[in-house]
Amino acid sequence: MIQLHDLQFQPYLSSEEIQETVQTLASSLVADYQDKNPIFVGVLNGAFMFLSDLLQNFNASCEVEFVKMKSYEGTSSTGEVKIDLDFSDLTNRHVIVVEDIVDTGNTLVKINELLQTKNLKSLAFCSLFLKPEVYDKDLEINYVGMAIPNKFIVGYGLDYNGLGRNLPEIYQLKEAQND
Ligand code: HPA
Ligand code: MG
Repeated sequence: MIQLHDLQFQPYLSSEEIQETVQTLASSLVADYQDKNPIFVGVLNGAFMFLSDLLQNFNASCEVEFVKMKSYEGTSSTGEVKIDLDFSDLTNRHVIVVEDIVDTGNTLVKINELLQTKNLKSLAFCSLFLKPEVYDKDLEINYVGMAIPNKFIVGYGLDYNGLGRNLPEIYQLKEAQND
């Protein structure tokens, strides 16, 4: 059990389980992109650890950029997405947006809107975690590591009000506190 701010979290996924999932995703991406020199666009802050491990397993040519997004305060989505998009020319490039987790999909929809104006060669979305119970958008998430229940998780890049990102495992909000 771990404590972050006022809440307690229980172990949910081990580091080994996460790494296996990341390797499977990387293999799929290599199969689809090995001759395309794609640009991976990591969504900060949450995706930093996932993107790092994903790309160490992507054994082919690629480039990396980041966008900074924020839609969460505490343990619930604010619905409003702030964005800071300021990177190199993506014209005619294969772009893969990399997220730590997709729940409502608000962030993804916003990024999609912005990237649709950039004359890309192709656009795909990759997320380590997806919460299908709350995802209500039409946008297809092309590469999903794991579908999980709608419970708040932390670790491996994911935070609760800033804490927990450095944990190598994933923890889930302890049951009794969900009430
Ligand atoms: N944990 C942390 N951040 C998040 C989550 C979550 O479960 N869902 C969306 N952002
Ligand atoms: Mg967060």
